[in-house]
Amino acid sequence: MKHTIDRLCSQHSLDRQEYLELLQCNDVDTLDYLRFQAQKATLERFGRDVYVRGLIEITNECRNNCLYCGIRQANKMVARYSLSQATILDCCRQGYELGFRTFVLQGGENPQMTDEWVEDTVARIHSCYPDCAITLSLGERSRQAYEAFFKAGASRYLLRHETITDSHYRRLHPTDMSLQNRIQCLRNLKEIGYQTGTGIMVGSPYQTLENVADDLKFIEEFQPQMIGIGPFIPHAQTPFAGASAGSVELTLKLISIFRLMSPSALIPSTTALASLSADGRCRGILAGANVVMPNLSPPTFRGQYSLYNNKAAFGSESAEGLRLLKEELNTINYNISTERGDYVQT
Ligand code: 5AD
Repeated sequence: MKHTIDRLCSQHSLDRQEYLELLQCNDVDTLDYLRFQAQKATLERFGRDVYVRGLIEITNECRNNCLYCGIRQANKMVARYSLSQATILDCCRQGYELGFRTFVLQGGENPQMTDEWVEDTVARIHSCYPDCAITLSLGERSRQAYEAFFKAGASRYLLRHETITDSHYRRLHPTDMSLQNRIQCLRNLKEIGYQTGTGIMVGSPYQTLENVADDLKFIEEFQPQMIGIGPFIPHAQTPFAGASAGSVELTLKLISIFRLMSPSALIPSTTALASLSADGRCRGILAGANVVMPNLSPPTFRGQYSLYNNKAAFGSESAEGLRLLKEELNTINYNISTERGDYVQT
């Protein structure tokens, strides 16, 4: 198995069967070796710097009914909110003062936030903070809308494909959503010129390791600039309330595999990972992640942006805890970088 890992290091590619064998492997020495190589690749490329992105959860209104997600339309227990432009700009200002140079606007697919409104919001942030990167994570929109947002100043877009297996996709989403459309959106984003992020939830209901091996092959071929992976965590007010959470260990293993597959990629140590394990964020960094996304949303709305239960929301997860985050990263000898941290191909 070490030869396979060495080949992943040197060629950044394996065949599906080899990925599957790596996913199935539980040998402690092999897993240590994988993590060691991924950590080495990260240090060579990024040193001990971890990029920070200020996450602004702009709305929890969503027209979709993804079976796993706490803000699905059918969940009538959620108090819905949408931030105004003024509030969003205020979050950016606070973030800027703290040193953030990337703002991530994430939200449900809220039809009331029209393409024109999003375009205008991006343009305003861009004119106030021309030195900052604007990342959008607002789901599926038309190619024209993505083009308009790009022209207005957004340069990155996050849209996880969730699973590349059609039959699995259909078990996680209602019939009015399609994997085909999601992949088309990702291709559009990449063609327009966005630094594009995709990814999966680890351990989502019905997911098999074969599915994950196919996700690895898909990501290897698609070559996203950003790869977001976190464990699935059940939400009590969804059809998957009784399902078990994804594995922290498998998530860490995948971070390492993705790092070796894609040495220059921006890979976050996700909030979901930090939510399942007290040292999850640091372990994500040590496995090969190089990005963290503290929350810049107004504290009054944070509880309402609940995609899953027990989301890490206090201490170092929030912007006011930036100092704590620094201290946490210092314990493993890593530092926060306030650079924009754009994707740079080596
Ligand atoms: N557990 C973990 N991640 C989730 N997401 C949505 N619901 C959950 C959940 N229950 C992830 C999806 C989505 C991203 C914004 O949040 O992968 O793309």
